[in-house]
Amino acid sequence: MVPLRPTHLVVNLSQLHRNAQAIRARVSPAKVLVMLKANAYGHGMDGVAPYIEPHVDYIGVAVLDEGVHLRELGIQKPILVAGGTLPEHVPYYLKHDLTLTISHPKVLEAAEIAAQAAGRPLRAHLKIDTGMERAGVRWYEAETFIEQSLRCPHLDIEGIYTHFANSETLETLGAEKQWGFSYASDQLARFYEVLSFYEKRSLPRPRLAHAANSAAILNLPDSYFDMVRPGILFYGIYPDQGALRTVEVAPAATWKSQVVYSKISQPGHPVSYGSLWVSDHPVRTVTVPCGYADGYFRRMTNQPKVIVNGKKYQQVGRICMDQFMVNLEADHAELGDEVILLGKATSGEQISAEDLAEWAGTNAYEVMTNIAARVPRVFVKEEK
Ligand SMILES: Cc1ncc(COP(=O)(O)O)c(C=O)c1O
Repeated sequence: MVPLRPTHLVVNLSQLHRNAQAIRARVSPAKVLVMLKANAYGHGMDGVAPYIEPHVDYIGVAVLDEGVHLRELGIQKPILVAGGTLPEHVPYYLKHDLTLTISHPKVLEAAEIAAQAAGRPLRAHLKIDTGMERAGVRWYEAETFIEQSLRCPHLDIEGIYTHFANSETLETLGAEKQWGFSYASDQLARFYEVLSFYEKRSLPRPRLAHAANSAAILNLPDSYFDMVRPGILFYGIYPDQGALRTVEVAPAATWKSQVVYSKISQPGHPVSYGSLWVSDHPVRTVTVPCGYADGYFRRMTNQPKVIVNGKKYQQVGRICMDQFMVNLEADHAELGDEVILLGKATSGEQISAEDLAEWAGTNAYEVMTNIAARVPRVFVKEEK
């Protein structure tokens, strides 16, 4: 359906597929779990999930509701819920065939009881905290936790994993100026140590050990294990300026709008709330129907550039809830003319998620995940 709003996010599914392929080529034979949490990093879970399902091995979400939603959409691939879960919510994992992250002994206990009561195994991954200090059993307490897990015959402990706190940060180490990732390397060493517990006891370790997020995929091949968990990289965005470009991806989203008002702003007539911008000469300003309620952050006021008819211009005046203004100086634009807030114009001009992040004082993750639900997502595929 063509959205009625002039403002929408065009998501190129073929590009997402290429990104997934590029990641797979880098990490193979490790499996690929793509993170579709937070509305597929803003790209629109409902369109992305069914399209990408055949091309990935596993799907990751943060919260139970996201997993349930994917099942309701008809997704059949295994789905890992990575966030923390309360013991009382464990039965929903059985009901919806979701993979439980067990990051606490109490959840392990609840899972074993729920699976026994249901009379069928519950698929679960153990979460080891190797230094993120968010959720998970600390690496130095993992042995007891693993022993406890081995006494849970009704669970299918399919996986064991950890999460990096700093894998994007490149550091210069020592006089030789080697590239290194000291904190991530420490975390990795701790995870290897935890895994060695199984070997020491001649016990089979869970089939899927995993650790790598996007930055680790780029920077730390030793962290691939049996599966990787790309989020931002799958959407074509590099996690950090410092991350190595060992996988070539490109952004899949273009945030578009159209001019809905065009006028000459006179000198001494301030534009928008708070009168934060005024010209000293007559200029053409246009109004774009997108605002902070759409995720175009108010705190960016007077900083962003937008592309109007293929050329970059300055956003001016306070960004409103539903609209903002752009200064075209002496150029002209009519109602309906194309505006690009994020992405590449056919003229070659482009605005990246990193640009928006800089103007908003945040990172590309927050920019993408804040594009509001009321911005329609339009999914396109390239012709073969
Ligand atoms: C457990 C877990 N794995 C993987 C990811 C993906 O991270 P990224 O988007 O940096 O690849 C996240 C996201 O925060 C996460 O929480």
